[in-house]
Amino acid sequence: MEKIKEVYGIKTVVSDKEVDYLPAFLSQEEIKSVRNFHATIEGYKATPLVSLDDLAKGLGVSRIYVKDESYRFGLNAFKGLGATYAIAKLLCEKLDVDINSISFDYLKSPEVAERIKDMVFVTATDGNHGRAVAWAATQLGCKSIVYMPKGSSIRRLQHIKDAGADVSITDVNYDEAVRIAKRKAEEIGGYVIQDTAWEGYEKVPNWICQGYTTMASEAIDQMKLDGITKPTHLFLQAGVGSFAGAVLGYYANVFKGELPITTIVEPENAATIYKSALTNDGEPHAVTGDLETIMAGLACGEPNVVTWEILRDFAKAYVSCPDYVAARGMRILANPVDNDKKVISGESGAVGLGLVSLLLEREELKELKDQLQLDENSVILCFSTEGDTDPEHYNKVVYDGKNPSPFE
Ligand SMILES: Cc1ncc(COP(=O)(O)O)c(C=O)c1O
Repeated sequence: MEKIKEVYGIKTVVSDKEVDYLPAFLSQEEIKSVRNFHATIEGYKATPLVSLDDLAKGLGVSRIYVKDESYRFGLNAFKGLGATYAIAKLLCEKLDVDINSISFDYLKSPEVAERIKDMVFVTATDGNHGRAVAWAATQLGCKSIVYMPKGSSIRRLQHIKDAGADVSITDVNYDEAVRIAKRKAEEIGGYVIQDTAWEGYEKVPNWICQGYTTMASEAIDQMKLDGITKPTHLFLQAGVGSFAGAVLGYYANVFKGELPITTIVEPENAATIYKSALTNDGEPHAVTGDLETIMAGLACGEPNVVTWEILRDFAKAYVSCPDYVAARGMRILANPVDNDKKVISGESGAVGLGLVSLLLEREELKELKDQLQLDENSVILCFSTEGDTDPEHYNKVVYDGKNPSPFE
């Protein structure tokens, strides 16, 4: 691991690792049922893959693709992919059926409803995951209980409530809220549907990660329509790292030795993957405290212990970003260049593109740009994992210029 010079608060560690394994639970064989299952959910449609050609031209690269997850299942974020798949797998176990032989409608049918109606799903969330769990549970006729960390957005709470959950904002951070959810589930005989893994709790989060691969596989199919077989670069934001680990682990299986050069992006006050990479003893390292950042979805201090290993072994760079990087990404995506399409991207969705823009524009970041081999042939893929899930804050950033960049 090599630490490179800090620029405008952006801290980076780069790695030169070569590994000779592939994450088995994200193999094409393992995940082949995932997209088929998602396709049975009413309202399923591949989300747009936006090619920002004029932005790419201006920034001197071949392509910049942004997968716009604000369109996913009407939930304004990607998390429905994980929650639906994990809950479906759990129900398949309970009902002793194969996921390949059932549809979401089957799980909603009266005969199944009768058998699962007393199940309660419990989770902790910064917003998006909890809304997805509540949305899925309600459709299945089940109850959901959702805990949010202190300082959570009231709008996000309202969305979860509207989706049918018993939801509350706690006075603890995300990682503690996860422990509250776990205790509650134990107490009432509920089922923890958590989007992060810890020692002894891996099955459900692994299903959630498998669920996330749908957007990664859609993106590849969509690029093929442009004659492009794979991105050269990935910029993946991380909270606990399940999303980034799922996409990276899946692409490792798909592209084998030809993996895109991958950068993991985090908020500076919750940069647990960055801290773990920097510590460089192979272990995940937690960040504690309030984890204050505008990127609420990424405000997690303890990594998913399963996906941490994927991020450790397959990523090239780990970047800790001040909030202005996300705000810049939101503003760029909200103000498209020439014929580019607008993407409404929320705080946790836009940080990757924000970093890309800085790497390609700011001479001071040349060392990292060179390390990543970004040049005119680069095909960059970012995932805008949420839309304006907190519209008031979105407007403060995009209309009022909140969190300005630190340079002229
Ligand atoms: C919009 C958004 N993007 C990215 C993430 C990060 O996902 P993970 O916690 O799996 O790293 C989250 C998590 O809540 C999120 O809500």
